Amino acid sequence: MKKQILVTGGTGYIGSHTVVELENAGYDVVVVDDLSNSSADVLDNIEKITGQKPVFEQFSLADAEKTDDFFNRYPKIEAIIHFAASKAVGESVNIPLHYYRNNLVSLMNLLDCQKKYGVANMVFSSSCTVYGQPDKLPVTEDTPRKDAESPYGNTKRVNEDILEDSIKANPELKGIALRYFNPIGAHPTALIGELPLGVPQNLVPFITQTAAGLREQISVFGDDYDTPDGSAIRDYINVVDLAKAHVIAIERLLENKNKDGYEIFNLGTGNGYSVLEIVNGFEKSTGVKLNYKIVDRRAGDIEKIWADTTYANEELGWKAEIGLEETLLSAWNWEKRVRGIE
Ligand code: UD1
Repeated sequence: MKKQILVTGGTGYIGSHTVVELENAGYDVVVVDDLSNSSADVLDNIEKITGQKPVFEQFSLADAEKTDDFFNRYPKIEAIIHFAASKAVGESVNIPLHYYRNNLVSLMNLLDCQKKYGVANMVFSSSCTVYGQPDKLPVTEDTPRKDAESPYGNTKRVNEDILEDSIKANPELKGIALRYFNPIGAHPTALIGELPLGVPQNLVPFITQTAAGLREQISVFGDDYDTPDGSAIRDYINVVDLAKAHVIAIERLLENKNKDGYEIFNLGTGNGYSVLEIVNGFEKSTGVKLNYKIVDRRAGDIEKIWADTTYANEELGWKAEIGLEETLLSAWNWEKRVRGIE
């Protein structure tokens, strides 16, 4: 019997890649998504990759009644990977209540149902945003968290606490928070990838849309940071590598290999690259020239961050494997397929 896993936000960017890896690993996947920032077509493309279309239910997990009804109808679910959340940093500053309501209430509704229906295991999608600008690099899981720069970032931090406190109060629950660094790239088939609504806020989608001719020019936000070339540094991780870590985290919980009821892992490559290195790396790996200009720093951005991945490497036996150039090429191949570029 295949084990059944609920993936919330499973038609989204990281969620869809994780569904593929779960199906490849022999799990039966149920996707819940409200399609507020994704399309049900993603499910067909997942089927093209794996030969298996996940079961799909469309509703918002912020709706307690619908969430309860869902668990009532799916009694075999053994674990949850919770991606579903609003994630636009800038938007969260303008409509904070929407972010708090959607992101916090969804997790609380899930936790209520976990207790009620006896679903012990949860993997939660967190972010390196919880570290702010760390005093010391690279960051380990013990690096102190800092005040968030945005309501979105705050929902990640508070949700980590909600999960941890719930597990402390209910020892039958177990959870793993995965703190992602900067996920980029797309599936090697180019059938799934990141498709932002409107103008992309994140660097790599902006780059691929500029290369595709949808945007005129990339703005590099700041060249006066204390970094070798003056542009800001991040730890960019391939989304397929990231997705594979979720399968390992699920196995860890299902097989009771976790050391604590609540665990945290950094998911990055351990390498930092500057914005200009990403722009140059894209040109090198794709052969496409990019038009860019240096502009002022973006409000709320930190200068530099990259992960210490020792704990994930040793404890999960997981390591990011796909290099930066291959990853940038995969992002370009995805953009080309979406735009019909040969
Ligand atoms: C942001 C969020 C993070 C979230 C991630 C992915 C914060 C502090 N971080 O990360 O929580 O997980 O998005 O959604 O809110 N850049 C440019 N030009 C652009 C776009 C970006 O120069 O047009 C630069 C940025 O200034 C930054 C780097 O590229 O230095 C990466 O930016 P981005 O892709 O937006 O990710 P983060 O801001 O690092």
